Amino acid sequence: MIIIKRKTEIEKIKEACKIVAECLLKIEKYIEPDVTKFELNQLLETWIRKYKAEPAFLGYRGYPAASCISVEEEVVHGIPNGRVLKSGEIVSIDIGVRKNGYYGDGARSYGVGVVAKDKQRLLEITEKSLYEGVKLARTGNRIGDISNAIQSHVELNGFSVIRELSGHGTGVQLHEDPPVPNFGKKGKGPVLKKGMILAIEPMVSMGTSKVKVSPDGWTVITFDNSPSAHFEHTVLVDEEPVILTRTE
Ligand code: MF3
Ligand code: CO
Repeated sequence: MIIIKRKTEIEKIKEACKIVAECLLKIEKYIEPDVTKFELNQLLETWIRKYKAEPAFLGYRGYPAASCISVEEEVVHGIPNGRVLKSGEIVSIDIGVRKNGYYGDGARSYGVGVVAKDKQRLLEITEKSLYEGVKLARTGNRIGDISNAIQSHVELNGFSVIRELSGHGTGVQLHEDPPVPNFGKKGKGPVLKKGMILAIEPMVSMGTSKVKVSPDGWTVITFDNSPSAHFEHTVLVDEEPVILTRTE
């Protein structure tokens, strides 16, 4: 069942999303060679709690941390640990925030230090694919329109979308209906209505679209160990889509 949010609910979801956006903006200047995943996670958790909010991922299905921090071949759900970031790597940071019982969800990938041209391109194409999807999150369109726009942008540029993981509804729960796949056909899937809230989140690999779960039981890794990127916004469906996790 897809929840249509009331105005009062949307206001609360907006607050949670604003915290997500602030954190993903603030963390950027801490991303540099030699910082550990653990240190970044600590900062994020402290900031979220300062906003009198809770990290929504902590304890979710037993997940052990406030954020997911995924480096290079790690696509998503990377557990913050002592891994040291190195110049040239891609790091993807994903956070969920619960504020007054309502959720916001967002992610972005960053280059560490100096990043090679092909990885820079991966970052740009993945972010652009998110915006290509977001543009279509408007009343009367269908989920498949969003999915297809993301897939087309990624594949026309020679990269692969991860098919085993999807975006999702969010707001009242962290994960709600409908799934928002990063591939699909125009004109298919549920019709979008004003008041739906979607977490749209392309996960893109430079190589294969196949992934596996690492022995820690969480970290999703590209099967060929190629680098990957992940960008996510929580978006309100309306006549014009509204990005709730935007900073500016
Ligand atoms: N980041 C995922 C999403 O955007 C959820 C992570 S759940 C966790 O949907 F358990 F890994 F934290
Ligand atoms: Co999400």
